[in-house]
Amino acid sequence: MTTLMHTRAVPRMPGIPVLGNAPSFRKDPVQILADGFRDHGNVVRYQIASIPLYGISHPELAQQVLVERNKEFLKMERLDRPPQGLGLVGGMGLVTNPDHSSWLTQRRMIQPMFHRARLASMGQKMAEAVQSMLERWEQSTEPLEMDHEMLNVTMDIITRTMFSSDISSSAGKAAHASSVALHFASGRIASPIKLPLKFPLPSHLEFHQAMRTLDSIIFQLIEERKPQVGAYGDLLDMLLEARDADTGEGMTDKQLRDELVTIFIAGHETTAHSLAWTWHLLGQHPEVLERMRTEVQKVAGNRIPTVADQGQLTYTTQVFQEAMRLYPAAPIIPRRIEQDTPLGDHMLQGNSRILVCVRNIHRHPDFWEHPDRFDPDRFEPSRSRTHRLAFMPFGAGARMCIGNNLAMMEAVLILASVVQRFDVQVLTREPLAHEFAITLRPRDGIPTRVHSRQP
Ligand code: HEM
Repeated sequence: MTTLMHTRAVPRMPGIPVLGNAPSFRKDPVQILADGFRDHGNVVRYQIASIPLYGISHPELAQQVLVERNKEFLKMERLDRPPQGLGLVGGMGLVTNPDHSSWLTQRRMIQPMFHRARLASMGQKMAEAVQSMLERWEQSTEPLEMDHEMLNVTMDIITRTMFSSDISSSAGKAAHASSVALHFASGRIASPIKLPLKFPLPSHLEFHQAMRTLDSIIFQLIEERKPQVGAYGDLLDMLLEARDADTGEGMTDKQLRDELVTIFIAGHETTAHSLAWTWHLLGQHPEVLERMRTEVQKVAGNRIPTVADQGQLTYTTQVFQEAMRLYPAAPIIPRRIEQDTPLGDHMLQGNSRILVCVRNIHRHPDFWEHPDRFDPDRFEPSRSRTHRLAFMPFGAGARMCIGNNLAMMEAVLILASVVQRFDVQVLTREPLAHEFAITLRPRDGIPTRVHSRQP
């Protein structure tokens, strides 16, 4: 008997008439995708009005979508339509550019900036940003909000390292504008009705204002640097000096803006929220924090930790990895398909969206024992992984995160520097409410008290 492949019907998540699952997706996509995985398994079909959407929660299927068959599973934005989601913010920048050939040119140009050795040479700038945060903490007796603090320090690091610039005077404005922009883009993706952005709805006006703020910060940066191109050898110089291989022309202001806004937002939001979740988990597990501190003491003693210590701070690295497993800052990686497409033993309908559910994969019971338990020892280097993509906080395949080494380097440096110098009392409890705005963040922040350990 012949077996028909790809014919098993995809289980459907029940929704409401007409809108389908749209209200649940608008409210909390991470939760509905977790519910669908729990109730129906690795491949689940949802509906946002007339658009089918598939939640994919198995590492082998993620491998198909993101690595092996990435020509069939396309980025969300389209060249023939105005941007709808994250493309509204990043334009044709590296994250959102759907055009393979121009993306490849961009990626090849930008990649060298993110090589480990190049990043290591920026270690001093990273350490300065961290120390400046800690000095501010020394002066303050007020409780802190750790998500906010982590946003500030990672923003400081990305602008110092990639743009050789200090935008601390605009940091508050910039953080608020990125948050508004990401909330808006995230809501629009899940919205069944998309009114043109020129309609003066309050949410549209707020979004336009946020984009004006971000653009003005970025354009000021570009204007300041144009007269001194080549003086810093940073990413901004590299972009200002780039020439088209055929025409010899430099990048337009719009292209520069798209790359810089992309690196600015992608380069600080995700790392900051991952660190915020790490602090929350450390608050629930003081014994883990103590073990981390012992390691830092052993490796750095009383001197200030540096990025060169990263290789020896193995437990600190494991703590950050385990926090990213439980709370991946990019919990959903979206793609779209144009044609009917087989995946596993299912046939997915053409013109639909595919959501690789990183959060579900990271808690998949077939790949993780006691998946909801915080246990940094899982990441001991000697332990083998059940599937290469069972842990995939930075995505996979050609479009995998370009900043993964930077993120690991700065996160370990920040964690080590803080625990060395401060007692940290995190005032959150499990379960902590989350919020999804492209990235996964703690909804109400991480209220924290810190006390200097220095005599
Ligand atoms: C913990 C921190 C981070 C996480 C969890 C994270 C996660 C991700 C993920 C999942 C993707 C793949 C998106 C997709 O396939 O559609 C991605 C892409 C990207 N990330 Fe990160 N990221 C982090 C830090 C950074 C940093 C520090 C930078 C620095 C600039 C950065 C820049 C980018 C860029 C430019 C891309 C697009 C790459 C491409 O399409 O060629 N990320 N990131």
